[in-house]
Amino acid sequence: MSKKRIIYEGKAKILYEGPEPGTLIQYFKDDATAFNAQKRAVLDGKGVLNNRISEFMMTRLSAVGIPTHFIRRLNMREQLVKKVDIIPLEVVVRNVAAGTLSKRLGIEEGQVLPRPMVEFYLKDDALGDPLVTEEHIAAFGWATAQEYEDLISLSLRVNDFMSGLFAAVGIRLVDFKLEFGRYYEGDNEIPRILLADEISPDSCRLWDFETGDKLDKDRFRRDLGGVTEAYAEVARRLGILKESGETDNVVSFNGGK
Ligand code: TMP
Repeated sequence: MSKKRIIYEGKAKILYEGPEPGTLIQYFKDDATAFNAQKRAVLDGKGVLNNRISEFMMTRLSAVGIPTHFIRRLNMREQLVKKVDIIPLEVVVRNVAAGTLSKRLGIEEGQVLPRPMVEFYLKDDALGDPLVTEEHIAAFGWATAQEYEDLISLSLRVNDFMSGLFAAVGIRLVDFKLEFGRYYEGDNEIPRILLADEISPDSCRLWDFETGDKLDKDRFRRDLGGVTEAYAEVARRLGILKESGETDNVVSFNGGK
């Protein structure tokens, strides 16, 4: 593990001071939590897989014009990223009813939504990341009106691109969570909004199109087993892990399945 100074430690990642000003090293842990960290486990190899999957997604998104914090992957568990001020909102995009949308509104899980929906949650563990509205965001200044519009349009572009990317490998992108940050460049007073954090099966719901099998963190939340195997399957389908042998290596490298 890196000996660098810890800037921030979250539930699944650690941010270290980067090698140059304006950079950070994002380290992916094997720790998994759910239900606001009431449920915890260590899933051998998860961090390695999420590092690779997130690298893949950020690189592809950047190639289609979505600005991201990702600079490059450094090793099995670390990537170099631009240092941003995280906007204290989790942006969730949903294509199919599941999770808290189903629970809150009584919409049957699996129902295709009439259109993609964008929701905002306040990043506050003590409050359990509550759902917030545009009114709250504006009144409390969590994002400016322009940033709010940008978050919605960027998130919908991410959704369009990732839905197609996953569909091409037989995976339905049910919903996902994004985080964004403000990046201050040069003398510009108005920061650029960059897609930050990670995109991985920890932050998405991914269902096999044919079987409906869950290939995401719901396997952990719902005690379905085979969590890292499902993440490895996502990586394999995306072409990140070419051979099933390599999948085994990545998982077993970190202590077996
Ligand atoms: P939800 O249905 O529980 O609100 O989750 C919506 C999406 O957001 C789902 O893909 C999982 C993801 N998510 C996170 O990445 N982090 C979180 O803390 C939560 C609650 C959800």
